[in-house]
Amino acid sequence: METESTRNEAKEQVVTPWDVEGADGGGIDYAKLVRDFGCSTIDEEMVKRIERVTGMRAHPFLRRGMFFAHRELDLILSAYEKGEKFYLYTGRGPSSESLHLGHLIPFHFTKWLQDAFKVPLVIQLTDDEKFLWKDLSLEECGRLARENAKDIIACGFDPKRTFIFSDVQYMSTPMYTNMMKIAKCVTLNQVRGIFGFTGESNIGQVGFPPTQAAPSFPDCFPHMFGESKTSLRCLIPCAIDQDPYFRMTRDVAPRIGGYKPALIESRFFPALKGESGKMSASDATSAIYVTDTPKEIKNKVNKYAFSGGQLTVEEHRRLGGNLDTDISWKWLNFFLDDDEALAKIGEDYSSGRMLSGEIKAKLIETLIPICQGHQEARAKVTDEIIDEFMSTQPRLYASLFGEMGDVAGALDEATIANTKPGVAIGAPLPEELTKKISKAQTGEDGEPMSKSQLKKLAKEAEIARKKAEKAAAKAAAAN
Ligand code: TYM
Repeated sequence: METESTRNEAKEQVVTPWDVEGADGGGIDYAKLVRDFGCSTIDEEMVKRIERVTGMRAHPFLRRGMFFAHRELDLILSAYEKGEKFYLYTGRGPSSESLHLGHLIPFHFTKWLQDAFKVPLVIQLTDDEKFLWKDLSLEECGRLARENAKDIIACGFDPKRTFIFSDVQYMSTPMYTNMMKIAKCVTLNQVRGIFGFTGESNIGQVGFPPTQAAPSFPDCFPHMFGESKTSLRCLIPCAIDQDPYFRMTRDVAPRIGGYKPALIESRFFPALKGESGKMSASDATSAIYVTDTPKEIKNKVNKYAFSGGQLTVEEHRRLGGNLDTDISWKWLNFFLDDDEALAKIGEDYSSGRMLSGEIKAKLIETLIPICQGHQEARAKVTDEIIDEFMSTQPRLYASLFGEMGDVAGALDEATIANTKPGVAIGAPLPEELTKKISKAQTGEDGEPMSKSQLKKLAKEAEIARKKAEKAAAKAAAAN
């Protein structure tokens, strides 16, 4: 699909949420992508800063530059250093029965981010998106969403801090309010430019982007984060193909009174047959699925993994393997944790000491335990566990951050009593309301307010918020 960034070079690389293809069938030019999209690269200093802030060694995906680009990650880190909290948001479009290895990249990395920063996470399953783009019934997309949820849960997320939701099921909530507000800010001309929609696109597709944009605002999840749009900042880990959605979201954010979401973006895990795009779930010869058996993994790697080795053993010993094109080497960089072992394989293979069949064997022995471990974890995910992750029961706000433990005692009775049904217990109140309450509470009589006074205040605050939103929209339109 043609996009703003690729219109002049339609035969060159294409990267959209739906199509990824390198120029002339070659690899993706990530430097060009960063320039075209207008994001920033993650340098060594930023990786060190993440290590300092979290007190943890950086994940190999960060150390090795797989997560290589960002938008305002520095702002999230500065805020976090000052004690400000944030939440993570990521997602999956449930179009196939199981995930492939490329899909594991953002989820394994997000799990690390959740543990390192001790923050809550929301995971969107876009069953509506897949219904609009694929030849699948809405019911089938819903079923695949639950199947994919099992794979996601198997990555080890903390159920107390993680909310997984299907768009179709979760739509009748404040998320819809946000979607409407976002939709009203974006014109057809803008989405044509950003996403390459044409007269042939169905109107569901054209209207879909706000659905993926909305979870960037915390008030979509009152049962976790309360009702304030600015209670938390949001950080989104994903591969860089999802960037167009969030470029749009960041443009709209100030106009609806929210923070711009920050992003941390990865390269693509390449297809088995070579690096011309990203691994696709619909081509069994280009993908290894998390459900594949050891025999399938062995056969696929041996048969299809593109080799950077030379044509004959003699030539290979003399010239060595080409690390720039060898898929086994590239995949080992993603999945072999041991830095020293990885460096030795790189040296041996590029110098010709290690043969193509031998590097493939290293890859096979790395992948088999990963897939087996995943399958064992997935088999333990029951319907009750999925329901727990997808529950909209109000959560205890304080328990979403920091070390887990019983923090109920930290909440005073008034906070619990003032919490509305369906809203997280102890979540921050919208800013205007907090100001008014503190003003009233330190007033002449110094008495705490009654419930009806609080209700009146909440109404007033809502009117004030709407006014502020209108003023901000007016100001944005004038710009
Ligand atoms: P989907 O299901 O295509 O992909 C899910 C996640 O996996 C990433 N990804 C890859 N990463 C590395 N290498 C690959 N070969 C590869 N293929 C896919 C995607 O970037 C994504 O992070 N519309 C989205 C679902 C979604 C979402 C989000 C994703 C909804 N909200 C917020 C990220 C953040 C989709 O269909 O993803």
